[in-house]
Amino acid sequence: MTLKTSLKGVAVLCAATAVSCGGPKSDLPVYMDESKPLDERVEDALGRLTLEEKVALIHAQSKFSSRGVPRLGIPDLWTDDGPHGVRPEVLWDEWNQAGWTNDSCTAFPALTCLAATWNPEMSALYGKSLGEEARYREKDVILGPGINIYRTPLNGRNFEYMGEDPYLTSKMVVPYIRNLQKNGVAACVKHFALNNQEAHRHTVNVTVDDRALREIYLPGFKAAVQEGGAWSIMGAYNLYKGQHCCHNEYLLNDILKDEWGFDGAVISDWGGTYDTDQAAMNGLDMEFGTGTDGLTVSAKNAYDKYYMALPYLEKLRSGELPVAQLDDKVRRVLKLNFRTAMNTHKPFGSMNSPEHLAAARQIGGEGIVLLKNDNSVLPIDLDSAKKILVVGENAIKMMTVGGGSSSLKVQHEVLPLEGIKTAAEGKAEVIYERGYVGDVSTVFDAVDSGQDLSESRSESRLISDAVKAAKEADAVIFVGGLNKSTNQDCEGDDRRQYGLPYAQDKVIEALAEANSNLAVLLVSGNAVEMPWIDKVPAVAQVWFLGSQAGNAIADVVFGKVNPSGKLPFSFPVKLEDSAPHALGAYDVADETEYKESIFVGYRWHDTRNIAPLFAFGHGLSYTTFGYSNVRADKSSMSSDGILKVSVDVTNTGSRQGKEVVQMYIGDEESSLPRPVKELKGFRKVDLAPGETATVTFEVEPEMLQFYDDVEGCWKSEPGKFTAYVGAASDDIRGTVEFELK
Ligand code: BGC
Repeated sequence: MTLKTSLKGVAVLCAATAVSCGGPKSDLPVYMDESKPLDERVEDALGRLTLEEKVALIHAQSKFSSRGVPRLGIPDLWTDDGPHGVRPEVLWDEWNQAGWTNDSCTAFPALTCLAATWNPEMSALYGKSLGEEARYREKDVILGPGINIYRTPLNGRNFEYMGEDPYLTSKMVVPYIRNLQKNGVAACVKHFALNNQEAHRHTVNVTVDDRALREIYLPGFKAAVQEGGAWSIMGAYNLYKGQHCCHNEYLLNDILKDEWGFDGAVISDWGGTYDTDQAAMNGLDMEFGTGTDGLTVSAKNAYDKYYMALPYLEKLRSGELPVAQLDDKVRRVLKLNFRTAMNTHKPFGSMNSPEHLAAARQIGGEGIVLLKNDNSVLPIDLDSAKKILVVGENAIKMMTVGGGSSSLKVQHEVLPLEGIKTAAEGKAEVIYERGYVGDVSTVFDAVDSGQDLSESRSESRLISDAVKAAKEADAVIFVGGLNKSTNQDCEGDDRRQYGLPYAQDKVIEALAEANSNLAVLLVSGNAVEMPWIDKVPAVAQVWFLGSQAGNAIADVVFGKVNPSGKLPFSFPVKLEDSAPHALGAYDVADETEYKESIFVGYRWHDTRNIAPLFAFGHGLSYTTFGYSNVRADKSSMSSDGILKVSVDVTNTGSRQGKEVVQMYIGDEESSLPRPVKELKGFRKVDLAPGETATVTFEVEPEMLQFYDDVEGCWKSEPGKFTAYVGAASDDIRGTVEFELK
């Protein structure tokens, strides 16, 4: 037997039955022989395990790890958040960081920003880079990506997800997973399912009709499993059909495992397990995080008390619960282990490499969405603007610390003010005014950003100082929005208001009056109300961008990068324009009924004819694009054929730029209510001035289907359909009709 010590300080024992770790391959037991089929190895290992060893494999032994089988040289499994970077090491049984000095990561832009790139190549780069960081830190499972659908702008966790559309989510999640997993690191796609609000997340029971479940809330997960090949999935905290989603028979056994053929492991959300019998029978494979707020609070042998630990073992021993279900869990956990921890072919990874920082900057720049740009206020021309005023707390506050489990520890976060100063250096003077005070706290889970954000001036003084400076500046950039504090963009609860917090509206109004060269940059993962929109010439949605935030922002502000992001969710004018709020269907006494059914986001705005402030798919560029000649290759298609819709897109402006060409489809004759149109294709093209590209979308029969909740199957009905091609859901440049025969 040999001992191998890993970075984590965990001893990995090589099997007594094997010769040694470095021994000749032919002497390896089947389960260790990577040349053998995975299922054969799993069966071999399973046959060697005692009941106690099996149970030990399926629940946590620390905040983020579960036990292997030391006797057989099967290592422990290490998970970590996720989804925007690799979380710092924590104490054995506490959320607080352990204080290591070698665990600072690259923080990548939040997933809302990734979705806003509408570029699957960016998703692949994201997954690859994050996977390399996870490998370097010897993580086996990354707790992400998060892909819950954006249902209400109040959800505190929207920033961790990919927006309101199932098609966009599906296309963006797959490359993330595939490229992450190429590193021998499993994705743990979360939170399955219907975790669309944070308020009362442990107790809320979601009622949703089968059409909305299948058409809106599940497609991203299905794509993650069937196309992305995700090796694990995290159950959600909330309930559905009265059962917690971490052990929900319908979601986990019937849909995920039986219908979709998922062969990975279902991992509970941390503290999302509530019952041994349900956990045993309803599809949960691994239990994490139950009631362990540090051993000082919970019992000393907390992990033995897990629902899937001793209580389960006792019921197995007495025959009250069947071993067959346990064996299914163990098979899945072994498979997960073989794919990750026990994969000897995986690369070593790297952390904070120049490539990763460049990736974070590139993804950030590509995800920034230019919402409005009257008088070409942006980009700021450094040949003419000699004095630039930056206003706002979000220009100087670190956003990688806070927000819940996605909080990170970075070596350095380039703040917006720093990025702007660096880019303007030697060309323009950059001055700063605070404008407002939001939250001056700097610590999360014992990670301290080390910033001093204290400010003694009154609200009116802060505004008058900013206005005075604005009057003397050639250009003003306001950097505000939300932050990662409770009731903002933060896990654990929802926002309390749709409007901007901390009296920012007043500051923006005052700045707009003082200087007409004003650009408002919104750092957030959510839509906000903009009562000042008609007075402000330029607005950009700049998200939470991670380590390279300031550089990515400066790239767009000064025109080094031509913005090409498009909104992955709608910005309603007011909260009541969003379906759940219009229908009183948000967070009603722990019972939330999704009364809007499939009419989420733009599907609601379109169908009800409620113009949004900024529509799903909207995003401007520093150049312009002309669309012409929208056409189909035929006028009808059969239920097993393909129809091609094409459009010519020309860069009609004077600089190089990328455009996201979007195709939506509407069913004109349907027996059931359907949205006016739904996204069914998009392509990002890069065009030089004057250049034209022909973009062709393939319409496949599945794209025309709806879920028939009476018969319980996907169906398409013959008849007329319209393909809408355009630059946003509210900017359709051409349509073409066709028939499904
Ligand atoms: C979150 C998960 C996270 C887990 C571990 C939970 O509270 O909901 O998304 O992965 O904690 O930090």
